[in-house]
Amino acid sequence: MDTSYKTFIFLLLFIKPLTVYGFFAWGPCPSIPLDIEKYVSSKSDYFLYSAGNFRAIDYLGTWYGITKTIDFPWSSGNCTQTLYYIRDDKRVAVLNSEIINGNNVSMLGEVFVDTNIPGQLYPKFFRYAPLGDYKVVHTDYTRTALVFTCRSFGIFHWKYVWVIARDFNIEEVPGYYKIIESLGIPISKLVKTNHEGC
Ligand SMILES: *[C@@H]1O[C@H](CO)[C@@H](O)[C@H](O)[C@H]1NC(C)=O
Ligand SMILES: *[C@@H]1O[C@H](CO)[C@@H](O)[C@H](O)[C@H]1NC(C)=O
Repeated sequence: MDTSYKTFIFLLLFIKPLTVYGFFAWGPCPSIPLDIEKYVSSKSDYFLYSAGNFRAIDYLGTWYGITKTIDFPWSSGNCTQTLYYIRDDKRVAVLNSEIINGNNVSMLGEVFVDTNIPGQLYPKFFRYAPLGDYKVVHTDYTRTALVFTCRSFGIFHWKYVWVIARDFNIEEVPGYYKIIESLGIPISKLVKTNHEGC
């Protein structure tokens, strides 16, 4: 067996389990569709396209995790929630928390808003960590938001989506499913966040 063939087999073995989760894909990161309105019902005022006129101030406050790509790396617990608020020094802080085995596990960070790219935020949780990628694809500010992150390694990329809401009892948000699929993530790879007894 020649070496490159072995390498290929190795890559397949290595990558196969990852593709099962739907967050690995070949090629560069997908771009967020510009004609996003066509993905959601145009008759509904439920969804507003945020990327054209993202209002960071209206995005502040508490959001609850509703559904996310399976094996989402940053939250494996229950009762996931995020609070965005303005600190005394006028910077935006983010407090992520979740319940893991009965314990409240939280992480405090900062958020930078990109004024050139609407909906583009960069969270930072550790002093020396690089800025994270956080794209608000869609939001109506008062009910739901669809967030996407992607890291490109040239020939392949990793990506995650998650849906958050102001109220964790919200029903499904199928209006987002077509957008999620257009970003290359099958709906079957989404998992709901458990909010029982939170
Ligand atoms: C965790 O504790 C923080 C600080 O007391 C609180 O604001 C947050 O709501 C708690 N998170 C959960 C998931 O209960
Ligand atoms: C989440 O809640 C379920 C059901 O209450 C429980 O079985 C599970 O262990 C919890 N998960 C974590 C990470 O605490």
